[in-house]
Amino acid sequence: MFQVKRDFELGNKHEGIVIGLFDKPTKFEGELSSLDEAFDGQLTELVKSGDISAKLKAVSKIHSFNKIGSKRIWFVGLGKEKELTFDLLREALGKLFKELKVNKIEETAILLDSFLANGMDSLDAAHAISESFAMATYEFESYKQKSNEPEKRLESLSVYSNFTEPEELQASLTVGYAYGAGTNSARMLVNLPGNMLTATDMAEYAKELGSRFDFEVEILDKEDIEKLGMGAFLAVNQGSTEPPKMIVLKYQGKEEWKDVIGLVGKGITFDTGGYSIKTKTGIVGMKSDMGGAAAVLGAMEIIGELKPEQNVVAVIPSTDNMISGSAFKPDDVITSYSGKTIEVLNTDAEGRLVLADAVTYAKHHGAQFLVDVATLTGGVITALGLNTTGAMTNNEELFEQVLEAAIEAGEPIWRLPIFEKDKERVRNSKIADLNNSPGSEGHAIMAGAFIGEFAEGTPWVHLDIAGTATTTKEYELGPSGATGVMARTLALLVERFEPIGE
Ligand code: BES
Ligand code: ZN
Ligand code: ZN
Repeated sequence: MFQVKRDFELGNKHEGIVIGLFDKPTKFEGELSSLDEAFDGQLTELVKSGDISAKLKAVSKIHSFNKIGSKRIWFVGLGKEKELTFDLLREALGKLFKELKVNKIEETAILLDSFLANGMDSLDAAHAISESFAMATYEFESYKQKSNEPEKRLESLSVYSNFTEPEELQASLTVGYAYGAGTNSARMLVNLPGNMLTATDMAEYAKELGSRFDFEVEILDKEDIEKLGMGAFLAVNQGSTEPPKMIVLKYQGKEEWKDVIGLVGKGITFDTGGYSIKTKTGIVGMKSDMGGAAAVLGAMEIIGELKPEQNVVAVIPSTDNMISGSAFKPDDVITSYSGKTIEVLNTDAEGRLVLADAVTYAKHHGAQFLVDVATLTGGVITALGLNTTGAMTNNEELFEQVLEAAIEAGEPIWRLPIFEKDKERVRNSKIADLNNSPGSEGHAIMAGAFIGEFAEGTPWVHLDIAGTATTTKEYELGPSGATGVMARTLALLVERFEPIGE
């Protein structure tokens, strides 16, 4: 897909060439001056007239009229040199790749050095290119009847740069692509309807991922889960005809199984709310209630590709949350795998129940640092909106590492507190150790506080992606639907992870 090349020449034949342009003054200097000359200075004129725009994220196309070897030139507006960030570059490139896709371009060249400014080095730019290419051109294969016409897509991108060793650039392109592809796998899983992705299907998917990357795979089926006494997980599955699966993947990148990072993802394949049933509008879209599981699986794919020197255990409790004569009910008291008893006040607060047992199981597998990801509460949307993932923690240092990874991935997170008084509310039950729904005030925090009861003393960060796992609007790096959020953050966290307290 990506070919790294040196010494671009105007006569080189490509379907198109892509050039980054900075705003004011927009100059065709250095390598680009000969390009402007080939057009008798007309490119400068087109910039002046606004036909070629250097405004941030603008994409302009001109025909070359055979003045150079390539048929077309695509200009990517990068805005002010001093204001360009990695995030903005990724978005500007996302818009470019969307345009190339619409125009059915199969082959093109990109002059990487024209994108460098403001401390952006060629390796960062190469990463941005391949990651945004993968993400921006992602499309969910729908169930519409198709025409037989084969889709034209970008098959070959020649990346020209004179500043860095080609092998290093190639490596950066591979890494960026792995991040994008892992995100796309997460998106694909979230976009699958509940009837197409049951817990059993998700377990099969995890097994395949495991054999692709040589992960150790453990799938607990209903009997195993019963034997282990995971009463909270089982309660959520009780009304379903689909058996539950506890999915475990282990990646060992160190000699010894120590400093283990536990990634735990909520895998509810469809959430009806159970007897605390959702409304007819609120229920639509609940196929995405396994967004946390998808993020963890997407991250594991990236980890499998990049093989960092870390140890990771991924744990995914998967089931749907259904209603039937055998379903669990409000007022039921259940016993979790940890032994803590829970008074069920709301069957729609099922995510924290399955996560409680999964977090305990991750610890059983040696996890010393925990990050859970879940489409957990509507409350987080009320608190933070649709662009920001809610974060809660019991450990500042681990949180800092997650925050840094999230910033680098361009997936904003913001912290909500868990105070003693919050913990008291989840511990408030006359007949059990905990209750699963202390009321609607601050309920994103209540969900976090509940899971924290099972993390106990283990450093832990909780990420509530109810608002960010899907989007109704198309954006620079993807279509509407699943975003694959947190797959990249988790993978980056693992790549960069420094064990705490050493
Ligand atoms: N899966 C939902 C949370 C959710 C809401 C995800 C909107 C995506 C979009 C979760 O299981 C749930 O129903 N939470 C309840 C908790 C309440 C009963 C305490 C909620 O947020 O209303
Ligand atoms: Zn629910
Ligand atoms: Zn749910």
